[in-house]
Amino acid sequence: MVAVPVWGMPSRGRRGGFGLRAAGSTVRRVTDEQRPYGSTSSDPSLKRVRIRHFRRAKEQGIKITGLTSYDFLSASIFDEAGIDFLLVGDSAGNTVFGYDTTIPVTVDELIPLTRAVVRGAKRALVIADMPFGSYENGPDEALATAIRFMKETGSHAVKLEGGVRSAKQIKRVVRAGIPVMAHIGFTPQSEHGLGGHIIQGRGDGAQQLLDDARAVEEAGAFAVVMEMVPSEIAGQVTEELSIPTISVGAGPNCDGQLLVWNDWAGFTRGRIPRFVKQYAQIGDTLLEAARRFRAEVDDGIYPAPEHEYSE
Ligand code: KIV
Repeated sequence: MVAVPVWGMPSRGRRGGFGLRAAGSTVRRVTDEQRPYGSTSSDPSLKRVRIRHFRRAKEQGIKITGLTSYDFLSASIFDEAGIDFLLVGDSAGNTVFGYDTTIPVTVDELIPLTRAVVRGAKRALVIADMPFGSYENGPDEALATAIRFMKETGSHAVKLEGGVRSAKQIKRVVRAGIPVMAHIGFTPQSEHGLGGHIIQGRGDGAQQLLDDARAVEEAGAFAVVMEMVPSEIAGQVTEELSIPTISVGAGPNCDGQLLVWNDWAGFTRGRIPRFVKQYAQIGDTLLEAARRFRAEVDDGIYPAPEHEYSE
């Protein structure tokens, strides 16, 4: 199968890879020359990832990658690596603010984080997550919150949780010209209503998942996150929808993959979900560095002469 680039100039030099799904679903790697929107932020042909690219990626079988980000430095690094979208997730409630759930985090807390991520992302599409309590009252409230994020942060899209129950909100926000990523399956803001961190879409739940997926597509969402859903039903939803599906623990049959960066990089201490693959062990590295720093200060090893200023 040959992937024809439909937008973006070929990049020079660097090689990277989206997974490319040929019909029959064998995964192949895609070179930077085949990427739809330039490759990385060091690529002279760089273009901003746009929502139209999501749909084209799906049409071409090119996998989409996303990570959460909550600050400038991590955003710059992920952007340089060619991650397609950065979600300033309400998971910041856990990872940045230390709450037990995402429920307490507020719009006012997320706005400065989103601004920082926008400053770090030259290529990636930045998506602001609308926290619990900022859209459930209806379409007017959803639009007001989405407008705040767009005006005050410079983000390129918003995300909100819920399928059928949030369709009216999605419709209103999209009609105002604001792209919406939907989020179905396990929705952490409803953790108590769902009875805990429970896999969604099993048994009778499959019909609800399909209804939710159809509802958000119909409402105008440009993509839909599916969280903690069995791979088979996630694959059925992916086949049925024309918008891309993004997996968070929904298996390989989706159009893209998203992870919370702190889990993915081994920064999170303690339990992480089964679906997370850890690509680094940053927590251990930091712990060891902090211990060495403390010991070297104690022992008078740091600062050494090369760290001092002379007159
Ligand atoms: O807030 C978040 O990080 C999320 C993802 C897990 C989808 O909503």
